[in-house]
Amino acid sequence: MAINALEIIRSAAPAIFPSFLRCDFGDLKGELSRLADAGAKGLHLDVMDGHFVPNLTYGMPIVEGLRRHSDLPLDVHLMISDPLAYAKPMVEAGADLLTVHIEALHPDQTLDVIGAIKDLGVAVGIALNPETPLSTLAPCLAEVDMVLVMSVEAGFGGQKFNPNSLEKLRALRESRPDLLLQIDGGIDIETILPAREAGCDLFVVGSAIFKQADYGIAFRELEAAMLGNPSGGSERVSVERNGQEGSENS
Ligand code: DX5
Ligand code: ZN
Repeated sequence: MAINALEIIRSAAPAIFPSFLRCDFGDLKGELSRLADAGAKGLHLDVMDGHFVPNLTYGMPIVEGLRRHSDLPLDVHLMISDPLAYAKPMVEAGADLLTVHIEALHPDQTLDVIGAIKDLGVAVGIALNPETPLSTLAPCLAEVDMVLVMSVEAGFGGQKFNPNSLEKLRALRESRPDLLLQIDGGIDIETILPAREAGCDLFVVGSAIFKQADYGIAFRELEAAMLGNPSGGSERVSVERNGQEGSENS
């Protein structure tokens, strides 16, 4: 999958990538099949180390398990302090796109880390948190396949969308018309259209999908809103799945 994954992702855009953070970890196969049926074109996997961010999620075994049961591109968002140490194992586990945070890298090592990930044969993205200025990406923009603009501080699902992400998207789209742009955090039927209009290609969505009983309805509502046709969705159904409903920070 890795060889053509970037082209597959590019041709899917604009696309919604569900985030594996607020899903049912007790039924990953079921979640995969529900998301595929709903129309997911890629899966966003939130890897956190309890150090770069104050939350701990999962690593290679989950990536490998998902890879075994899905052909969808695996977009791995590394919220970890030492992304280079885990790049190769993540690729071996089946990652197609590895995104590292600019805040995790010393400026002197950024280009080396990006180059090392590319050498593993996968696509590479660079992410930045809401408080990180866009100027920090200048030295590496020409080297990455994607920029992930965080619209919440990395670490937790269910946070409020930060509109400063829209300015970053607009500036990136203007300066680099062909660069793949992704947004992550607080994307729902209200925020997806402004992000699309700002030039975004890929929309990571956690709560707005996993809070709904029917992921197909969630996708249709989000896609309609993304295309500026909010009435294209239908009724919303809330569900308690795995006790997660009501817990804003998971
Ligand atoms: C936050 C993660 C996001 C998060 C998005 O650190 O990177 O992918 O799961 O979740 P929502 O859509 O709930 O903001
Ligand atoms: Zn993410």
